[in-house]
Amino acid sequence: MDRLQKVIAHSGYCSRRKAEELITAGKVKVNGKTVTELGIKVSSKDEIFIDGKMLSKEEKVYYLLYKPTGYVSTVNDEHDRRTVMDLVPDDKRLYPVGRLDYDTSGVLIITNDGDITNKLISPKSNVQKEYLVKCKGFLRKEESRKLEKGIFINNIKTKRARIFDVKYNKVSESTECKVIITEGKNHQVRNMFASVGHEVIKLKRVRFGNLTVDKMKKGEYRIIKPFELKCLRELIDENPKK
Ligand code: URA
Repeated sequence: MDRLQKVIAHSGYCSRRKAEELITAGKVKVNGKTVTELGIKVSSKDEIFIDGKMLSKEEKVYYLLYKPTGYVSTVNDEHDRRTVMDLVPDDKRLYPVGRLDYDTSGVLIITNDGDITNKLISPKSNVQKEYLVKCKGFLRKEESRKLEKGIFINNIKTKRARIFDVKYNKVSESTECKVIITEGKNHQVRNMFASVGHEVIKLKRVRFGNLTVDKMKKGEYRIIKPFELKCLRELIDENPKK
């Protein structure tokens, strides 16, 4: 179930703001009844009419983008920076699934499927995200263990994580390691490492569930294959705590 204005916007009909205007102006009917409040939630089974025409359900597309650094993960940027949407076809109203920081590279899903987006970004989804991290200084075993058990960031404890493949570079006094987390709070990996005194200097998401950017070039996108999508959905559905 999603808010009516979001469903209209995700169908590709218009922007969310325009959808809100249409609703409050009494132009939208759900299952034959005019709706003028903005809060109501609808599902894919509900029939939505705008100005007497049925809202068409736009064909769903799923892209896997190898996000380079130097791009923001939003549809529009208020500071006019390059966005990840500049790197994929623009014939549909698409949006990224969650965010990677401006300085983070790696796997980013871009789609117009609001349902899978909500499921994937939900903290309950439990889908693994694997990162390659380079941080300043030498990450000690106790610090790794602390991060793995969960630490408090802004009074909220992070879920269990895994840290492995730890390599030290004595010349640059830095550490490279891999980290697997199953949630995606804002700047989560950078904040986790900062909390044990290590600034992250390079961050790449190497895997999202079953999807990787292996064999892809930075800035390249490809269509996610049906069997990959099926597998991704199964990773969400397998979550016992949902
Ligand atoms: N964690 C971060 O700190 N940044 C990202 O871009 C992704 C995960």
